Amino acid sequence: MNKTSIIKQTADYVKKTLEEEWSGHDWWHVYRVWQTAKTIGVKEKADMFIVELAAILHDISDWKFSRGDDKAGAKKARKWLEKIKVDKKVIDEVTYIVENISYKGGTNKVKMRSIEGKIVQDADRLDAMGAIGVARAFAFGGNTNAKMHDPDIKPMTFRDFEDFKKSMKVNTVINHFYEKLLLIKNLMNTKTAKEIAKGRHRYLEEFLDKFLNEWEGRS
Ligand code: ADP
Ligand code: NI
Repeated sequence: MNKTSIIKQTADYVKKTLEEEWSGHDWWHVYRVWQTAKTIGVKEKADMFIVELAAILHDISDWKFSRGDDKAGAKKARKWLEKIKVDKKVIDEVTYIVENISYKGGTNKVKMRSIEGKIVQDADRLDAMGAIGVARAFAFGGNTNAKMHDPDIKPMTFRDFEDFKKSMKVNTVINHFYEKLLLIKNLMNTKTAKEIAKGRHRYLEEFLDKFLNEWEGRS
């Protein structure tokens, strides 16, 4: 099978698998990460086959929905790629990226070993910023019954992954801006993503500023 049809088949497989998702890890998140990864990948002169496959497979199974198995996504990606007979070297690279991409409350300290991994991680993080980042955060809040905002609940930092998992229910959406969204700008790996992140970060700050002013009836 040629590269184009491998990518097409993989996209069809992921689209079908994620059809039932409700958390913001839906197919259209994957689609956006895929497109953004392509934009970054071309500029950074990466291996686009690996970039595209990893972007398409990066959320195939999320630890939050796999009863705590944080390797479930990588295993599922490997199984699929073996089934359609992709080269072992490519499979190893792609599954490494899928396994190490998640943010996990800032507790994921793994530094991506390949430029392709850095690019997909940047693209995934960019999708939590800007207008889409705002929309996703409130969608997530709605799905988990979180409050939009409560001035009496202060933002927190997380010691480790376990700490982060326990804290998920007591969060407010506005606090999530301080706990994650506003910090992402400084986590970009590639020069191209750093540029894109600047505009998306500015949008987050403007949104927050207006939201908090309106909350107090100031504008
Ligand atoms: P990753 O897949 O990189 O681990 P997450 O699952 O943490 O990313 O986030 C997926 C989306 O849901 C992002 O847009 C993120 O901002 C949003 N989100 C995650 N946790 C919260 C939360 N506690 N409150 C609001 N939005 C959240
Ligand atoms: Ni993602």
